[in-house]
Amino acid sequence: MPHDIDVVAKICAHHNHDPAALLEILHDTQEHFGCVSDEAARRIAQDLNISRADIHGVRSFYGDFTRDTDKPKLKLCRAEACQAVGSEELARRLSARGIASETIYCLGNCALGPAAMIGKRLIGRASAELLEAELADG
Ligand code: FES
Repeated sequence: MPHDIDVVAKICAHHNHDPAALLEILHDTQEHFGCVSDEAARRIAQDLNISRADIHGVRSFYGDFTRDTDKPKLKLCRAEACQAVGSEELARRLSARGIASETIYCLGNCALGPAAMIGKRLIGRASAELLEAELADG
């Protein structure tokens, strides 16, 4: 999703352009857009009067932040408990439908496997159809 730079500016203003709030600003940006793009990083650097290298350092130190939304939005658990209830077959079915997923080993939802996650939404008893519909909902 291209960043609406006005939104980034508002997030910076909400934190009083305080460089000490960089982490919160990055979190708010990621929460809003699903990533912190280079364009957003440039704007944040400008608004906080810090270097882009500072932002890059924080952005890459914390694994929470992604630079773009090209990464699969879908995380699929392929650890033992989920494997026992069909996560491997589910992974094959998703890939046959052209749906990319990132492999995760345990989402803490073992009793409701196969478990998946889209953004911050945890999905239990996942099927290819259910995940496809959830992804279409955004
Ligand atoms: S093994 Fe899949 S959520 Fe724990």
